[in-house]
Amino acid sequence: MISVRKLCKSHGDVAVLVDVTADVARGETIAIVGPSGGGKSTLLRCLNYLETFDAGEIAIADVVLRPNMPSGGLALQQLRTRVGMVFQQWNLFPHLTVAQNITLAPRIVRGVAPAVADAKAQELLARVGLEQRAGAYPHQLSGGQQQRVAIARALAQEPDVILFDEPTSALDPEMTDEVMGVIRDLATGGMTMLVVTHEMAFAEGIASRVWVIDKGTIAEDGPPAKVIDDPQSAVAREYFRRRKAR
Ligand SMILES: Nc1ncnc2c1ncn2[C@@H]1O[C@H](COP(=O)(O)OP(=O)(O)OP(=O)(O)O)[C@@H](O)[C@H]1O
Ligand SMILES: [Mg+2]
Repeated sequence: MISVRKLCKSHGDVAVLVDVTADVARGETIAIVGPSGGGKSTLLRCLNYLETFDAGEIAIADVVLRPNMPSGGLALQQLRTRVGMVFQQWNLFPHLTVAQNITLAPRIVRGVAPAVADAKAQELLARVGLEQRAGAYPHQLSGGQQQRVAIARALAQEPDVILFDEPTSALDPEMTDEVMGVIRDLATGGMTMLVVTHEMAFAEGIASRVWVIDKGTIAEDGPPAKVIDDPQSAVAREYFRRRKAR
């Protein structure tokens, strides 16, 4: 589903991603961890082409990405519908209801009929446990509820891949559990996901693989039991030692 080959990106003199090569099969859930500034967000942003890169190639959901692609081109249009993204801040449109937030892109980008888009939104809201809140505005919801709407909105595009960048780091523990529960259900349902998270329970219990990203490279890549309990790199040992000490 995802193939990254020798991906390189710099900001000025700072090398942010250095020759990153990785593959993700359909249905895998990858937990991405590692020290601040290591390049986790930048990698997700390159996979969704929110940023271009300097060298290398990415194939994701049958879309091939190379440096400096035209923003209006067909490849990036396809990418937008096939790859969903959920950020730390939920970024819902404040002036639209929950249902309108979810149906906006399907109606405008894919031309789905309003009644069909509404029915689908209702189904997705049930899936994230918010079937009663279609008419609410974002400010009337808790942070965890807003984040679940953001997930429903990503799902409305029927993506092949969803990228999550610290989806629960702005939430308190109870809301973290409800959002992680939704992500766990998606993993069980076979969605392909990359999840940047510092939630060790997620990395240990839900992810099929863990990547430790440090200094622009994937320092460690393997099943949770191996990477977390028997890390080989100094950076992974230190990272997990600190997390477990909390
Ligand atoms: N727009 C930018 N201009 C200059 N440098 C940037 C920019 N965006 C990111 N960087 C740098 O790239 C490096 C990687 O940043 P990135 O946000 O990908 O790290 P991260 O692993 O997501 O960190 P965190 O865990 O704190 O979210 C950092 O050194 C950061 O300062
Ligand atoms: Mg980040």
